Amino acid sequence: MEEIIKTNQLQKKFGKFQALTDVTFSVKAGEVTGFIGPNGAGKSTTIRILLGIIKRSAGQAKIFGKDVWKDSLDIHKRISYVPGDVSLWGNLSGGEIIDLFMKLMVVETNKSERH
Ligand SMILES: Nc1ncnc2c1ncn2[C@@H]1O[C@H](COP(=O)(O)OP(=O)(O)OP(=O)(O)O)[C@@H](O)[C@H]1O
Ligand SMILES: [Mg+2]
Repeated sequence: MEEIIKTNQLQKKFGKFQALTDVTFSVKAGEVTGFIGPNGAGKSTTIRILLGIIKRSAGQAKIFGKDVWKDSLDIHKRISYVPGDVSLWGNLSGGEIIDLFMKLMVVETNKSERH
């Protein structure tokens, strides 16, 4: 079965601090996977690397067979991420925030159509 997410001996250092050491796992097409571990284990760090937000220090990380850092623009066209710890504007309702993001998208679409 096709491997959608694949990491191999992934490592991340923040300065001298080794946050990830040899993280190797894969998620295949159709699998539902839970990613669990104690506080500070490196779950968010791994996810941030997979999303192309921070760069790994060593090892490999791929989604759809593409490099999560080099090919992040391509990958982002096909993935979504719902963070659990997001903090948005407290004075807006959930619906109002969605409306706001949709308006931002329309502005961006119109802009790119002009080029
Ligand atoms: N930007 C950073 N700079 C320095 N150290 C960091 C940074 N981000 C994470 N760390 C450290 O890396 C380790 C892994 O952190 P991470 O946030 O990935 O853990 P986690 O598994 O998501 O924890 P939690 O369950 O609390 O969300 C922790 O020791 C954390 O303090
Ligand atoms: Mg976390």
